[in-house]
Amino acid sequence: MDKQLVEVFSAFDGKEEELIPILQKVQDALGFLSDDSIMEIARFTRVPVSSVFGVATFYAQFRFKPRGDTHILVCRGTACHVKGVTRILEEIENQLGIKEGETSIDRKYSIESVACIGACSLAPCVMVNGKVEANLTPQKIRKLFKTAVKIN
Ligand code: FES
Repeated sequence: MDKQLVEVFSAFDGKEEELIPILQKVQDALGFLSDDSIMEIARFTRVPVSSVFGVATFYAQFRFKPRGDTHILVCRGTACHVKGVTRILEEIENQLGIKEGETSIDRKYSIESVACIGACSLAPCVMVNGKVEANLTPQKIRKLFKTAVKIN
């Protein structure tokens, strides 16, 4: 078993009711929930694999793909939508050669979307590694990712 999983599991008893905290800690350790980690969690908690998947997919906080070194969180909230975030997302996808929900093959970039990043007055905006990029235009996106290497 992965050393990181052994370490995470050592803080738990393996009870079914610990499933969500275990999923959270495994994701913190690995950056996402891999198929292997789900299987190990199922073994550890004696919960069927299908149930572990069921719980993990129910909550938006869990990821099943690794994030890129540069993680872009695109706001899909109303204010950003009205201010044209769809064009911003398209430009990001064009610049990076990946779609929303994907991670580039070299794991340099990943794109996800959320309902609102809490900076509505700065719409349209995205977060890049936790930093808000505000009042975006396609031109600003091109400038922001000018060093990005297209992979497609
Ligand atoms: S709607 Fe985009 S930050 Fe709230």
